[in-house]
Amino acid sequence: MIPPSLSFPGSIIWTIPGLSLEKSWNYWLRNWLWKVFVFRKLRFHSRGLLFAGILVFIIDSSMTSPSDIDFWASRYRDKSTPWDKGGPHPELLLRLSEGAPELSPPPGGRALVPGCGRGWDAIALAKSGWEVLAVDIVQELEKDLSPTLSQLGGEFRQGNALESQTDAFELIFDHTFFCALPPGNRADWGRMVKNCLAPGGFLVSIVFPVNRPLDEGGPPWRMTLDDVKASLEGFPLGFLECSPVRERSPERAWDEQWAVFRAPCL
Ligand SMILES: C[S@@+](CC[C@H](N)C(=O)[O-])C[C@H]1O[C@@H](n2cnc3c(N)ncnc32)[C@H](O)[C@@H]1O
Repeated sequence: MIPPSLSFPGSIIWTIPGLSLEKSWNYWLRNWLWKVFVFRKLRFHSRGLLFAGILVFIIDSSMTSPSDIDFWASRYRDKSTPWDKGGPHPELLLRLSEGAPELSPPPGGRALVPGCGRGWDAIALAKSGWEVLAVDIVQELEKDLSPTLSQLGGEFRQGNALESQTDAFELIFDHTFFCALPPGNRADWGRMVKNCLAPGGFLVSIVFPVNRPLDEGGPPWRMTLDDVKASLEGFPLGFLECSPVRERSPERAWDEQWAVFRAPCL
C-alpha cells in the first residue's frame, strides 16, 4: 500500500502571470483583465502606479487560481491531448523489457508518476511489479484510470504533484510533466523530487523536445537536460545517464532523451 502519510492537499495551482502560452479566454479574464483595469485607473499617479504594481503582485501571488486545473481539464474534456499517444512511452517498454536497472523494482518498490495524464506509463510500471502512485490535477482522469491501476495494486490521486511531502519512492518517472510546468514551478519540481525519492531511488526524466529551436518555445515549455539539472541543484542526486531515446513516440515531432538520476544510498 502507498503510505497514508502521503498527502497532496492542494488541488490549486499558483499561476505565473503571463508565462502560460495557451490559455482559455476565462484565464485571460481572471488573470489579466483586472490588472489592466487597475493600471488604467491608477496610471496617472506615480504613487498610484507603484501601489498598483504592489497590489497586482500581492493579489496575484496570493490568489489561488484554479485556471491551470481548468486548462488541463478542458484539454482532456475537448480531447485536445496531442501529448497522449494512447500507450506507454515506447522507450519505457523497451527498457522494461531489457531489465534496465532504474526500472527494476526492488521488493515492494514504489513508483511515483507525477502528471500522469491518462496513466499509460503508470499502468506499464504497475504491470512490471511497481507499486504505483499516479498523480494528476485533473479529477476526471480518475474514472478511467483508477479501476485499472487499483487492480494492479496502484493508486490514482488527484492533486498537485508538486506538493507531495515524502521520500518514499524508489522511482519517479517524469514524462512530459516537467515541460508542462511553467518555469517558475521548477524549483518546486526539484523539491518534490528531493522529498519523494527514497535513498537509492531513481529519477527518470524524459527530456523533450530536444532539437527544437529555442525561440520556438514549448510545448508547452522549452526543456533541456540543463533545466532538469538546474532544478535539482543543491540536492545530492547523482546524474547517471542521458541518452537519445531509441524507441520514439510515434508522431512526436522532436527528439527525446532518457535521463536518469539517482539519490544517494544511505
Ligand atoms: C503534457 S501532459 C502529460 C501527461 C502524461 N505524463 C503523458 O505523457 O501522457 C501534463 C500532465 O500534467 C498534469 N499536470 C499539470 N500540472 C500538474 C500539477 N501541478 N500536478 C499534477 N498534475 C499536473 C496535466 O493535467 C497533464 O495531465
